[in-house]
Amino acid sequence: MKYEFSITKNPNPKKKPDPDTLRFGTEFTDHMFIMDYQEGEGWHDGRIVPYGPLSLDPAAVVFHYAQEMFEGLKAYKSEDGRVLLFRPYMNAQRTNRTNDRLCIPQIDEDLFVEAIKALVKIDADWIPQKEGTALYIRPFIIADEAFLGVRRSNHYKFIIILSPVGPYYVGGLTPTKLYVEDKYVRATDGGTGEAKCGGNYAASLKAQEEAHAKGYEQILWLDGVHRKYVEEVGTSNAFFVIGDEVVTAPLDGTILPGITRNSVIAILKKKGIKVAERKTTIDEIVQAYKDGKFKEMFASGTAAVISPVGELRYKDEDMIINNGEIGPIAQELYDTIYGIQTGKLPDDM
Ligand code: COI
Repeated sequence: MKYEFSITKNPNPKKKPDPDTLRFGTEFTDHMFIMDYQEGEGWHDGRIVPYGPLSLDPAAVVFHYAQEMFEGLKAYKSEDGRVLLFRPYMNAQRTNRTNDRLCIPQIDEDLFVEAIKALVKIDADWIPQKEGTALYIRPFIIADEAFLGVRRSNHYKFIIILSPVGPYYVGGLTPTKLYVEDKYVRATDGGTGEAKCGGNYAASLKAQEEAHAKGYEQILWLDGVHRKYVEEVGTSNAFFVIGDEVVTAPLDGTILPGITRNSVIAILKKKGIKVAERKTTIDEIVQAYKDGKFKEMFASGTAAVISPVGELRYKDEDMIINNGEIGPIAQELYDTIYGIQTGKLPDDM
């Protein structure tokens, strides 16, 4: 290990949740990692401390101008007891791309990954092993200098918390119903669409709530300029099986460069399935549906891994995809990725 962190053990460990009733993001472990950044000094004082509330100045930049970012990845325990992380260096690299966009200082990739490993090791007993569960790891950085002028903060906190989780969607792999959002937008050219920052999510809540009120679990975002190209599903990347080709939006600045998205593309290519990262209009999807060529749709993300879509609503068009059932490609991708993540399948991607 290149880095040393101080450790203060929690004297009052909590009772672990029942893996059978675990939901997403409601339970937290006994410890958290905190490290400070001071302009001129850099990142310092990495420490593992008991999980608990933070004390922050009410003038902290993050509260006013949202200078912050977050990441998400999962730890699993294999059947023989090994603790497995899925592609943590990709999260470290994405962190630095987000940091660059948000004027947050860069963080050494080894430091980022070693901090995660040290914290997961302390709370390894919290990793649930039931099918469909995992220990969700949430690294995040907040600007905590007390200053109301608008400029980059001179002080930050890098924090990692851990949450034992069940499926992101209550229905697990049951296909979701999506509403194609044509009023609000998630991202535009030159915006922060490809960054993992809280502002993107705050700005998406209104559309999500309106879709829920209409009876849909999630939204399919269209591009912010023409309102015609399909982009993301809620908080995850979108894939469409049209004819014999799987298509997804290209990483052109408005799309989150998903780590699961990256694995999906690699697995499809390895299996010899045609996959294209290209701009696709919602009209092309509707036409494919009418022609009987729109075979499957699914979303990919760290939280849900693969989430099949059973119904897509665009204006007056109600498209029932694969009879509302999970399709063969989505099922195979889920089995492969989850198999690699849990150590049941070799990681030869
Ligand atoms: C993911 O799919 O991993 C996400 O980004 C969802 C997360 C914000 C809970």
